[in-house]
Amino acid sequence: MMKTGLAFFLYILFISCNSGQPAGDQSLNGKTIFKSYCVSCHGIDGSLMTNGAKDLRTSELNLDERILVITKGRNIMSSFENTLSKNQIKAVAEYTLQLKQ
Ligand code: HEC
Repeated sequence: MMKTGLAFFLYILFISCNSGQPAGDQSLNGKTIFKSYCVSCHGIDGSLMTNGAKDLRTSELNLDERILVITKGRNIMSSFENTLSKNQIKAVAEYTLQLKQ
């Protein structure tokens, strides 16, 4: 029983250190980043459109274009290049693609 527990713990440790998408690293979780930085204008599902924000559910932008908007900002939307790392911007851009209907 103890041995299994330890093995499981080491397995989790191994996974979280080695996988491309670290399970435990909240700072690279697109959903978490979106909740912290984007919902105030875009809403939890991307549809809020506060301050004229685009409805992210119907946005036709591809991943690269989203990364650009988030990095540089556009009109009222501020730039996030000084707030988020490149990897975080990519993660949150990927998350916004999942909001698409
Ligand atoms: C201050 C309010 C505000 C915040 C915070 C904000 N946005 Fe925006 N966002 C906007 C507005 C306004 C637009 C439309 C810009 C324009 O006029 O073209 C927009 C546009 C976008 C677009 C382009 C959509 C399209 O189809 O053109 C994406 C993608 C986007 N936002 C993602 C994000 C993400 C991801 C975050 C969080 C990291 C975020 N936004 C935070 C206001 C905001």
